[in-house]
Amino acid sequence: MPTVKFVKENKEVEVADGTTIRQAAKEAGINTNAGFNGIGAGLNKVFNCHGFGMCGTCRVNVISGMQNTNAMTMREKAKFKSPIPIPPDPVAALVALGYIGNEATMRLACVTQVHGDVEVETSPETNLFGENFFS
Ligand code: FES
Repeated sequence: MPTVKFVKENKEVEVADGTTIRQAAKEAGINTNAGFNGIGAGLNKVFNCHGFGMCGTCRVNVISGMQNTNAMTMREKAKFKSPIPIPPDPVAALVALGYIGNEATMRLACVTQVHGDVEVETSPETNLFGENFFS
């Protein structure tokens, strides 16, 4: 059975093959729907798309084991590889900015299935003043 390790929370959970990172996080008691650098995490925990890959608030950074996950979905590509955040609203835009500098490892927890061991960082911070912003 695959193991999902949440590095920020220092928690590990064993899950069935094909489980999503979101489901694994719920089993571990972790909220993947964080806000913008933690602001609004309580609201996002309730007001999110509940696993349909639409809101983008469940983004995680896969530290290791990306090869043990499913291929990036169309919705993830639209979110992380498009210059225009989808949906095109200001909150989604701020949340989506978090992928900058981590384009190859950023995933949506709700649509990322695990088929082997992975290590993930939940709620990676967005650095609006980092060297990668608008580059
Ligand atoms: S919960 Fe909305 S994109 Fe994952």
